Amino acid sequence: MAEKKCVLVGVSGGIAAYKICTLVSSLMKKDYEVHVLMTKGAEKFVGVLTFETLSKQRVITDIFETGMDTEVPHISLAKKADCFVIAPATANVIAKIANGIADDMLTTTFLAATCEKLVVPAMNTAMLENPVTQNNIEKCRQLGMHILESGSGWLACGDTGKGRLPEAPVILDAVESLLQEDRFLTGKKVLVTAGPTQEAIDPVRYITNHSSGKMGYALARAARDLGAEVTLVSGKTALEAPVNVEMVNVTSAADMADAVLSRFEQMDAVIMSAAVADYTPAVKADRKLKKKDEDLYISLERTTDILKAMGERKKDSQVLIGFAMETEDLMKNAREKLVKKNTDYIIANSIAESGAGFAVDTNRVTIIGRDAEKDLGLLSKEETARQILQYCLKGGD
Ligand code: CTP
Repeated sequence: MAEKKCVLVGVSGGIAAYKICTLVSSLMKKDYEVHVLMTKGAEKFVGVLTFETLSKQRVITDIFETGMDTEVPHISLAKKADCFVIAPATANVIAKIANGIADDMLTTTFLAATCEKLVVPAMNTAMLENPVTQNNIEKCRQLGMHILESGSGWLACGDTGKGRLPEAPVILDAVESLLQEDRFLTGKKVLVTAGPTQEAIDPVRYITNHSSGKMGYALARAARDLGAEVTLVSGKTALEAPVNVEMVNVTSAADMADAVLSRFEQMDAVIMSAAVADYTPAVKADRKLKKKDEDLYISLERTTDILKAMGERKKDSQVLIGFAMETEDLMKNAREKLVKKNTDYIIANSIAESGAGFAVDTNRVTIIGRDAEKDLGLLSKEETARQILQYCLKGGD
């Protein structure tokens, strides 16, 4: 008989801790081995006995507790875990795990665990939006942890806003998707492009676009988490470089073309999510242009269409994925790009829709393949990335 998968559930001290009783109960019904780890704060909200009864396991809250057996509990639990979820994750616990602080049973076991990690923040909106917390969440993401976005709505403190713990079925889904995820990109080389390009007019001015790079960075992280060796060729963004990803920073469309085309042959898959300028100033002034009384006309010339260049030289084994971001006739234009640029997939991305496009954390895309199409619906950019890779590089949902 196959061994049960082991899920560690870390509960920290927030009022939403009561929702975790349902999560633990649902995990047990699905036949997982579940161990609950509580902080002292969590014990103020839910009794140890509740979780012990639901999980049918002891809840160890004291790291120095001497057990009846000789095992070191935080290490043996960490070794056994297939997934470690912290829910609710308070601002305090997030700050600790972002910085490797291990001062109780939960954070020590978390630091020792090498399995998939899911962090589910839940707190007051102001605490969540505080840049310190946002930085810590981003740091956790960069370190390879998965973050399940908080919901919005009524909060126990009486405020209304972001910070609600997602309901138990949503957390369960996220845990299960991490448990099922096979690292199907192991041994594969994937190149992702992200962000805008900057086309210099003179040493102080340039032409660019609104791309934040978030979708491309999410794709790079997701490909890394699925086992790929990832190269991220990025235009200038405000985002932190993901860990364990080869970063190639570029500025202009010409730089990006060099960086991508020189590596293309070695790649198993390339995802062009960068917003590459189609035109660049024909002459880049060496010195700052001084204003004159008359109007200024800048002559623009075409840049290399990087995706098309790869489409022309691609081998059958290579998978080429492009993006189409449009304000109108999205599907028609996207289908045309698939043929014109000889790609395997085009990710059609409407910027007219709310929650999709530049700078936001969600996206709504349709994957267009040679003989099938799939609308992914409104999802976080992380989940959109995961599903794009699953569909295009593994085949199927
Ligand atoms: N792209 C590229 N090189 C360029 C311009 C775009 O590789 N010089 C890639 C983008 O990264 C994206 C895809 O081509 O994956 C679609 O880009 P888009 O600018 O929307 O399409 P275009 O072919 O430029 O068509 P149009 O401007 O007519 O929409």
